[in-house]
Amino acid sequence: MAENLIINGGNKQEMYETLLPQLLSLTTGETDTVANMANVAAALKQTFDFFWVGFYRVKEEMLVLAPFQGPLACTRIRYGKGVCGTAWKEARTIVVPDVEQFPGHIACSSDSRSEIVVPVVRGGKVVAVLDIDSDKLNEFDEVDAEYLEKLCASLPI
Ligand code: SME
Repeated sequence: MAENLIINGGNKQEMYETLLPQLLSLTTGETDTVANMANVAAALKQTFDFFWVGFYRVKEEMLVLAPFQGPLACTRIRYGKGVCGTAWKEARTIVVPDVEQFPGHIACSSDSRSEIVVPVVRGGKVVAVLDIDSDKLNEFDEVDAEYLEKLCASLPI
């Protein structure tokens, strides 16, 4: 279970391959969205030591902060704003190698240098986004996108 995640290192792909089945087994059968988002954020943060990992949920036509791990973050993001609002609007994963090069990036922390945002789509609509920030440039690539998309597609949230 969550407190006993078994990740034996290896490369990033191997770590995702080990982590994802454990996360799906942990969350499957649990119907509470907040509980599942909370454990997913904790597991990703613990496994990869990312700077910030969390969810925003679509609520009242905005993205509203949901379970996360890391420093305090902005509470609400408008449709089409920042990386999160753009991933929501375009319903696609966005990888940002250098946040300073992304027009309109919302800097919740000046320590964030690169970012990936993956939409959570249910019934053809974006219902949430998974946002991960790194304090290193160029942290995320197509491997992260592939596995985080699989995770977001399968999670009971
Ligand atoms: N950087 C995000 C805002 C959320 S924080 O990174 C936690 C954005 O531009 O949408």
